[in-house]
Amino acid sequence: AGIPAASVAPTFKVNSPNVTYTDAEIRSKYTYRTTSVDTDASGNFVATPKETPYEFKVERKVPKMGMMLVGWGGNNGTTVTAGILANRRNLSWETKEGPRQSNYYGSVVMGSTLKLGADAKTSKEINIPFHNILPMVHPNDITIGGWDISKMNLANAMDRAQVLEPTLKAQVKKEMVDMVPLPSVYYPDFIAANQEDRADNVLEGSKACMAHVEQIQTDIRQFKEKNGLDKVIVMWTANTERYADLVPGVNDTADNLLKAIEQGHEEVSPSTIFAVACILEGTPFINGSPQNTFVPGAIELAEKHNAFIGGDDFKSGQTKMKSALVDFLINAGIKLTSIASYNHLGNNDGKNLSSQKQFRSKEISKSNVVDDMVEANTVLYKKGEHPDHCVVIKYMPAVADNKRALDEYYAEIFMGGHQTISLFNICEDSLLASPLIIDLVILAEMMTRIQWKSAEGDFKHFHSVLSVLSYMLKAPLTPPGTPVVNSLAKQRAALTNIFRACVGLEPESDMTLEHKLF
Ligand code: NAI
Repeated sequence: AGIPAASVAPTFKVNSPNVTYTDAEIRSKYTYRTTSVDTDASGNFVATPKETPYEFKVERKVPKMGMMLVGWGGNNGTTVTAGILANRRNLSWETKEGPRQSNYYGSVVMGSTLKLGADAKTSKEINIPFHNILPMVHPNDITIGGWDISKMNLANAMDRAQVLEPTLKAQVKKEMVDMVPLPSVYYPDFIAANQEDRADNVLEGSKACMAHVEQIQTDIRQFKEKNGLDKVIVMWTANTERYADLVPGVNDTADNLLKAIEQGHEEVSPSTIFAVACILEGTPFINGSPQNTFVPGAIELAEKHNAFIGGDDFKSGQTKMKSALVDFLINAGIKLTSIASYNHLGNNDGKNLSSQKQFRSKEISKSNVVDDMVEANTVLYKKGEHPDHCVVIKYMPAVADNKRALDEYYAEIFMGGHQTISLFNICEDSLLASPLIIDLVILAEMMTRIQWKSAEGDFKHFHSVLSVLSYMLKAPLTPPGTPVVNSLAKQRAALTNIFRACVGLEPESDMTLEHKLF
């Protein structure tokens, strides 16, 4: 049972004059093939195939990595921690349905495969674990720490979360009792008032200040030293905050943002404080919640410091289905006319989202996820035309972490007919989000070890904004001025094909011409 550890699967090497391996690096010369489109005098398109040579360089040494979670004592924080501990010790536990074994189901990196090619003799497809495409950190080797405004130890916090089986919890409890979150930044105005009673582990001061930024930097440095780590990735999996108002002179530029923090401006959120601290520390920071942590000033600051950032909002359940299903419907030529999405959940996330301002952050991030797919289909939709789209979230304590998501997709089909698709999705929210946290930190770390260049230029890292993480995120942050891709299939293709390019392999193609010649 479970997934065989990726490390025991056969590894591979690319046999090509364009790819070289040294002990330290993999280098690949890669031709990027695209199509450039012009419009001629009579308004017709002229498509010209274009080739751009690039060179990629991947550092092979897998670092000793730590992950620091903001909101460590929450449902996601405790679940991902227990899950990694259980996998590390290869634990199994009894349930009423029989024994269960630790696994990494739901993680693209650990649970999915990609096509390497076709067998030279039989032409049969050869697939490899995604984890093997590049030298990636194994989740079992991640050191875990973090902050929470609640000082409850992780063992008790895991009980509070009501996610995992008691027989599993009993086996990881001893290790988790000693895990206590560091005190965090708490500005009550940003999260729901109903969270106040758990805020017993907070740094002094209830509005932005440089002392908070510096404390977070010190925490990261000390965690790194204490655990002998080469690298740390920080992830926001704390409560959803309200949106910060975008105020000219306050959060519009990097300098203004730093000044606003120094002056204790009230529109700087705790998550932005964490982002700024990580950027200044050169630590990648990923936002798993929907709020606008990355105000323009924070993005500019990341660019200035060549620091990696990614976000926003884990794409775990309803939205993941949506970005797959809508892609399918619209690409099948079916005219989707409305999406009605209802959720009810009873965990602390639901409690926080029962407050209007925090719900609004979630509503925004859940609402824009079909835009690119609709806009791409100029046959079905006129310019500016959109399916109706409504998102409702209700707090229902009894269902705890077992979130319910009900969706109705209503579409127009051939000759004025209608198709109604109803979905009812139930599962533990945190069991969906935990593997995404693992994927996000492993992929973000991997991106810190890749550099590339055009024929003329020098080697550089990817842009500070890691849009390659989009598959795991509901409202993907992209470099300023670049398009957002929400389609799940396109997001996965971008991720796998960029990693393939790093080892000189062509994009995954499903043409299978070798089987089609008569
Ligand atoms: P949770 O409410 O159980 O955990 C959040 C934790 O953050 C709590 O322990 C809380 O004390 C702590 N916290 C609040 N403000 C903090 C601060 N300033 N600094 C440090 N800690 C702070 O929520 P859960 O279920 O773990 O979700 C976490 C976040 O992930 C939420 O924003 C949620 O909307 C988002 N998310 C979750 C998904 C899922 O499937 N579970 C999917 C998409 C997003």
